[in-house]
Amino acid sequence: MAHRTAPEQQTLTPAAVFDWLDEAAELRARAGLTRTLRSRPADDPVLDLASNDYLGLVHHPAVTGAAAEAALRWGGGSTGSRLVTGTTALHTELEEELAAFCGVEAALVFSSGYTANLAALTALTDPDTLIVSDANNHASLIDGCRLSRSDVHRAPHSDPAAVAAALAARTHRRALVVTDSVFSVDGNAARLPELSAAARAHGAALLVDDAHGLGVLGPGGAGALAAAGLAGQPDTVATVTLSKSLGSQGGAVLGPRRVVRHLTETARTFIFDTGLAPAAAGAALGALRLLRAEPHRAERAREVARTLSARLVAAGLVASAPDAAVVSVRAPGPEAAVAWAADCRTAGLAVGCFRPPSVPDGVSRLRLTARGDLTDRQIADAVRIISATAPAGAAG
Ligand SMILES: Cc1ncc(COP(=O)(O)O)c(C=O)c1O
Repeated sequence: MAHRTAPEQQTLTPAAVFDWLDEAAELRARAGLTRTLRSRPADDPVLDLASNDYLGLVHHPAVTGAAAEAALRWGGGSTGSRLVTGTTALHTELEEELAAFCGVEAALVFSSGYTANLAALTALTDPDTLIVSDANNHASLIDGCRLSRSDVHRAPHSDPAAVAAALAARTHRRALVVTDSVFSVDGNAARLPELSAAARAHGAALLVDDAHGLGVLGPGGAGALAAAGLAGQPDTVATVTLSKSLGSQGGAVLGPRRVVRHLTETARTFIFDTGLAPAAAGAALGALRLLRAEPHRAERAREVARTLSARLVAAGLVASAPDAAVVSVRAPGPEAAVAWAADCRTAGLAVGCFRPPSVPDGVSRLRLTARGDLTDRQIADAVRIISATAPAGAAG
């Protein structure tokens, strides 16, 4: 075995301990993958197609008013774990209304969609479980798979036949199929009816991350399970975030009552995490009630997405055909994508910019949120700016 000098025997200054971080930053810079934070002023005049505020509710008085009221009544934080002091009547109300809205038996809210995904994946599996996970799943699902200590089969993207084959070959006692409902970067929908059939044929459960479907898909925005006729199925579980269509912050697991009970008693990101802040719970409830009263909002977001995509394609760009409210536009490379997004911002339009490793296929893209509250004039402005700033090589 090669002899290596123990770190404490080397003559390192304390600061040298992190020299490797500078080298790593340099490598990222050379690959065009530097990421920087930009602070956003409250009154940013830029037209925002970069956020996940799909229904434009984040500033709606029904949402901000409910948040303020909840904070005044219940305080700035929830004071502890949900199992100790952190469950307020507001949490219970939110869980009941969320479950009814999505057509499932029960819901459990978490401090984020990320922790909801970690909870579902770790609590519903064990070392004798096979998880079959779509190759393009969100990072929080991937991390949940890693934490689960189960065997994970990474199935090719959107391929129910491959999922069925992996399930058929399994030797494990249990199995779980896991997928995003709408894939975050390209905005395409999972083939849920076929995935459900494959899972059911092989005695597996189905877990669907509906972060980008809640509020946009299904009747009145009831989500992807409702759209696929799978809401309320005894072998199907969904996770959602409250931070996109609902204009708040937090997450939830939705499904059969016994699943929710199991998570309440065993999921580490539920037990050892402070409960969702009252203001966030109040905001989500406010948004949910608004959606129930105004169900046309979901269809409008889908319509904006279709219009935006069609006009970008007509302008000669390569834009995805949206299944929900996300439209992605192909860029020739990571540096070109960053420059394109910066040029859009200079012209008054904020767009998302996705590059490897956030995109599994290595293709850099602009990502546009087709907010349901965009006017026809704003859609036209967005298309004009994106086309005018397009780099060479962006045309289809
Ligand atoms: C598909 C998907 N799942 C989960 C999450 C995590 O949700 P949260 O931001 O509430 O932690 C996100 C994004 O934020 C997402 O896009």
